Amino acid sequence: MPADGVIDADVPVDRVDGAHRCWLRPTGVGDDVTGVWFEVREGERVLHEMIKRQVHDIPVGCRGGGCGVCRIRVVEGDYTTKRMSRKHVTEADEAAGVALACRVIPSTDLVVELAPTDAT
Ligand code: FES
Repeated sequence: MPADGVIDADVPVDRVDGAHRCWLRPTGVGDDVTGVWFEVREGERVLHEMIKRQVHDIPVGCRGGGCGVCRIRVVEGDYTTKRMSRKHVTEADEAAGVALACRVIPSTDLVVELAPTDAT
């Protein structure tokens, strides 16, 4: 299991060339938690790849940035986002790493956690 906020190179996730691993860690990480890993292919969005891999740990709504239910906080790693509504992700949220999983495209392996609307 990766340490808090640290990407472990030995995590057993199959990945194709150019894909990144994403670890959805439980909020309030401790020694007794595992979280879930899944692969995100290059250029793909976190939420869409999570769904394709039968992982269901991030709430799924509109899948297009309109409802805000898929808010996550990126704890570690680099990413870009497609346009996000300020109704669901404020500038302060964004500066704190909060984003909509359906709009996040990883540039590296990521560590993320759920970010409920009142978490910032
Ligand atoms: S699923 Fe609706 S904003 Fe991401």
